Formats: sequence, structure tokens, C-alpha cells
Amino acid sequence: METWRIQKASRIAGRWLPPGDKSISHRAVLLGALAAGKTTIRHLLESDDCLRTARIASQLGAKVERVSGGHWVVESEGIASLREPEDVLDAGNSGTTARLVSGVLASAPFFSVLTGDASLRRRPMARIAEPLKQMGASILGRQQNRYLPFAFDGHALRGITYTLPVPSAQVKSCLLLAGLQAEGFTEVVEAIPSRDHTERMMDAFGAELERESSGAAHTLRLRGGQMLQGCEVQVPADFSSAAFFLTAAMLLPGSDLVIERVGINPTRIGLLEAFQQAGAHIHYESLQEIAGEPVATLLARPQSLKAMRIGGAMLPRLIDEVPILAVAATQACGETVITDAAELRLKESDRLQALVEELTKMGADIEATEDSLIIRGPCRLRGAVVHSHGDHRIAMAMAVAGLLAKEGETVIEDTECVQTSFPDFMSTLNLLAIN
Ligand code: S3P
Repeated sequence: METWRIQKASRIAGRWLPPGDKSISHRAVLLGALAAGKTTIRHLLESDDCLRTARIASQLGAKVERVSGGHWVVESEGIASLREPEDVLDAGNSGTTARLVSGVLASAPFFSVLTGDASLRRRPMARIAEPLKQMGASILGRQQNRYLPFAFDGHALRGITYTLPVPSAQVKSCLLLAGLQAEGFTEVVEAIPSRDHTERMMDAFGAELERESSGAAHTLRLRGGQMLQGCEVQVPADFSSAAFFLTAAMLLPGSDLVIERVGINPTRIGLLEAFQQAGAHIHYESLQEIAGEPVATLLARPQSLKAMRIGGAMLPRLIDEVPILAVAATQACGETVITDAAELRLKESDRLQALVEELTKMGADIEATEDSLIIRGPCRLRGAVVHSHGDHRIAMAMAVAGLLAKEGETVIEDTECVQTSFPDFMSTLNLLAIN
């Protein structure tokens, strides 16, 4: 079992280009495999999760080649050229791989089996199986299609109109990918918007995707039978990975961190809105759009935080940042309440429980209800022996808590999970954190 030992830091300083965005990397490889021609990808995230998607794309018949670090080429003759995989497809720990690939497998004319590791096999899959079945898919999965492994007897589907019961970019993307090979139109309605990388990338690959908004609700409408064309994708740096050091820099006096080429898609940067509510402003400059995604340089400097009230439509915009937001809230003045967070119990770990258990060991005043977190600050964190719960974002959030601890060493157990999204996390920490 891999363990990290974290000492308190006095500041975070440097210029840093974070690794490629995980969500966008998955989509670039997968759409590349569905598109006719050559797709060139730069700054692809080479983490376990994204390599799972790449391996599955090649098992389905696409030519997936690593040219050099972060530079990959995917070649395919299009969606109709995909072939029956010879063996079981393994999504590992990656929910994004499992849910996006399921949309392709359900609608492709062959048999396939998809599984994942113990954590992924516990995560809810009825949320994709149900709408895919409404589209006519033949899926057999454990416990009445609630859990992986799934066996697909793939065939042509028919488009449906589906309203997402909970905001989920993975479910939305699964249905849009299935819709590519469905008869007629597939419509996905979101009452609360989730990240829109699939939509932006479908545009870049030449798909016609209609969007309609009424109030907060969005409807996406995709005609089946469209051909995607390979293209060039420059993957922005991952805001969710940047968030750990950005937060550390805000909380450690004397810090000065410049974060380059970070994706600031509005559906992803709820953490900046939360910090703004807390009285802190993260400046950004050099705003530009690359391959349909907005990118900027972020400047993170120390600021003091007031307590925050987070919930509703804001949650999907910071869904992966709740662990690091909870750490920040331990240093904010007053009671921070994060509501509408039930989905956090269904991620790589039960994140509400993991945060309460582990931050309490470090002296935080934190409690959870079924769907919320309450954190009272500011508190003096102290080093402790804590556990990742097998969850990369818990491990990295606890590492930042360790940098903030006023006394003692923080030992984080079971940190191999960080390979799924940010393999260089510890070497980055050693570079940017100054004792
Ligand atoms: C992701 C969507 C989010 C997020 C996950 C990545 C994606 O999940 O938590 O880490 O790439 O589509 P939801 O399906 O809850 O939106």
C-alpha cells in the first residue's frame, strides 16, 4: 500500500501547467474512435482512467497511438467500422469510461461485456441502463441492471426524449453517444446543466447538435446516423487538478501561484464562484478559446475566506471540487453549508462520509447529513494518519489539509488511486510547496 507523508508548508509558489483535463481527454479519444479519419490530440491526460478509455477504443478496432508524452493519434474509419471486442472491456475505476462507452456498446451491432474494479462495480448504472432500454437496448447486468458487469447485445436503437432525473454529464453523454447510431432524434433534457464537454466536442467533430434553453432547463437534440470527422484537439489543463494547488495557494500566506492554460468552462468553475462568495477573487488573464473550450491563466494569491452557502444548480459546477472545498471551509470564518450533495455519496467513494471521517482526525469541525456537509471554521488543523478510501480526490484533498496543518506530519494511506487522474500529484506538490 502506497503512503504519502506530508509536512506543513509555508507557501505555494511557481508557474505551473497542470495535466490535461480528464473529462475532455476521455471524450477526445472516444469521439476519435467514432469519427472517420485522423484525430490528433495534444496534452492528453495519461492517467489510468483515460488509458482505460484508450485501450477500449483500440479493442473496438480504432488505431490508437501514443506519439510522445500527451501527443496521441486516433485513426478510424468511423462508427460503422467498430468491431466486436475479443475480450471483456475493463473500465477500471473510471465512471466516465463505463458510462460513455456503454452508449456506444448498446448501439453497436455486436456483443460485448463491460466491467470495472470493485469500486466501479458498486456504482449505480441503472441511471444509464434505464434510458438505454427505453431506446431499445438489450443489456444484462448484475442485480436487474443496477451494477456492472454489463453484457450488451448491441443493435440499432431508436431516439427518445429523456429528462435526466439527476444532473449527470456522464448519463447525458452516454445517451448522446447512443443517439449517434439511433433512428430518429435523441433528445436529452437537463433541468440543471452539467458539464458540456461532449456537446462542445461533438461540434468540433462536425456533428449537428441543436440546443434549446427555456429558463434554466436545456434540451439537446441530436439526429441519428450522423458521421463524425476526425479533428485536432488541444486538451486544456484540468481545472479539477488545478483546484488542489489553487486552494492551497489561497490559504497559505506568502503564496504566489500562476496556473497556465486551465480550462475555465463555466460548467466546471463553480469553485471560483464559491470562493467569490467567500470574499476571495481568483484573477485570470490571457483568456482564449482552444478547440471550443475557454482557457485562461489563473493567478492564485492568499486571501481570507468567509463561510459559504453552496447548493442547487451550483453543485454540478463544482461536483468534483467538494473535497477540496471542504478543506477550504475548515479555514473559513463561520459555518459553511453544502447542500444538495447526495451524488457525492455515489462517487469513487462515499465522499461525504470520507470527508467527515478523515478531516475529523485532523481536528476539523465537520458533520454530514444524508445530502449535505456542515463545516465550522476557522480551525487549527493538525497532522494525523488518514485514509484515502481508495478515492483520488480524497487523497489529494487530505494532502492539502496536511500542507495547512499547523503541527505534526500527515500520513495518507492508500494513495495509488491518484494514478486515475493526477499521476504526478506528489512530484508537483514537492515542486510547488515550500516548507
Ligand atoms: C464527469 C462527470 C461528473 C464528474 C466526473 C466526470 C464526466 O459526473 O463527477 O468526475 O467526465 O462526464 P456526473 O455524471 O455526476 O456529472
